Amino acid sequence: METFTFYNPTKLIYGIDQTDELAAQLPKDAKILLVYGGGSIKKNGLYDKALTQLDKAGATVTELAGIEPNPRLKTVRRGIELCLENDIDFILAVGGGSVIDATKAIAVGAKFDGDIWDIITKKETATGALPFGTILTLAATGSEMNAGSVITNWDTNEKIGWGSPHSFPTFSILDPKNTVSVPRDQTVYGMVDMMSHVLEAYFNRVENTPLQDRICESILTTVMETAPKLLDDLDNLEHRGTILYCGTMALNGVTQMGARGDWGSHNIEHAVSAVSDIPHAGGLAIIFPHWLRNSIDDNPKPHVQLATRVFGVDPEGKSDQEVAEEGIQKLSEFWTSLGAPNRLADYDINESQVDRMAGIAAANGEFGRYRVLDKDKTAKILTDAL
Ligand code: NZQ
Ligand code: ZN
Repeated sequence: METFTFYNPTKLIYGIDQTDELAAQLPKDAKILLVYGGGSIKKNGLYDKALTQLDKAGATVTELAGIEPNPRLKTVRRGIELCLENDIDFILAVGGGSVIDATKAIAVGAKFDGDIWDIITKKETATGALPFGTILTLAATGSEMNAGSVITNWDTNEKIGWGSPHSFPTFSILDPKNTVSVPRDQTVYGMVDMMSHVLEAYFNRVENTPLQDRICESILTTVMETAPKLLDDLDNLEHRGTILYCGTMALNGVTQMGARGDWGSHNIEHAVSAVSDIPHAGGLAIIFPHWLRNSIDDNPKPHVQLATRVFGVDPEGKSDQEVAEEGIQKLSEFWTSLGAPNRLADYDINESQVDRMAGIAAANGEFGRYRVLDKDKTAKILTDAL
């Protein structure tokens, strides 16, 4: 295990009807920017509930609606302008990872004397942030309890992950009721995304990580046990709640204490969705199994451990290579059984786009901590995934 410092200041408020706690968490009589997406919160009634709570806290509300899935830089810039024009004190994000990620960039951008894109592209460092809280509506990214944010610049076809100690939410409310309206496909994507976060952490080159491995395996098996039950009964609050908790635990820093993961599959997926605007976890469901196959080497220890402990592969009479491949096959079959895509062709992505996507993924040189990838190796994974 490597040396680590764990820092996570986000106050997590979990439970059925905890949305009613919102007013108590907000600053009193403040000027608040309410950020949300394309309208799901208006359809499911959460918008009205949030306004009631904002009113109770004496807030003067400015709204920023229409945050896109795969949130865009131009919308972030509009949010920063709204903060400055309206002298905003606090931001409330109500939505999924895209709304929360955009809010992080707006919060940091509003306290930065320059262009937020320079922070996202790591040319500049964040100097502060407006405080912000979240009401999470979709179990997937873990953005509700981490400092990460992913923003897309459509002018340059770049989708970039960034973060800073200033970009943690002050609080996040996780009320399973707010996720019941998530449609089946987004529910599946969310579960694929959280499993992918755990797999990224699991594949590291650090020795002696027995607890880290077991934490990862517990999250994976819990999602796998719960997923079919939830998809059979999308209104079930217990299953919604279990998945909500899994999503947060999968990427709040706990799985990577003392052992940072690979993150190559995420880097490749971000390059794919920078060129073709596809759902993040739709891309992961396609790419991750191919990354796994391409990362088996002469000592595939984590592959074998994953196959035997999580996917129940019997190693008797098989080589490590065979056990590893059987585990990957079971992972891929599991995701397909939920309804996730498994080929880039499912999104009309073909061979002609591979070189460009691989180039974007490797734009800053080699990447990945378990399996170091360059442009050619990335192109091979993408070609395998066609
Ligand atoms: O926009 P609205 O109308 O709200 O609809 C959204 C959107 O269409 C809908 N939705 C959300 N909650 C709902 C709901 N529909 C009905 N009922 C509800 N309760 O779902 C659609 C997708 O929402 P989005 O926020 O885009 O999904 P997700 O949470 O998966 O976020 C994806 C983004 O997060 C980034 C991804 O790259 C992508 O841009 N990621 C962020 C990470 C982080 N900050 O740590 C890590 C991840 O690996 C990921 O890269
Ligand atoms: Zn992800």
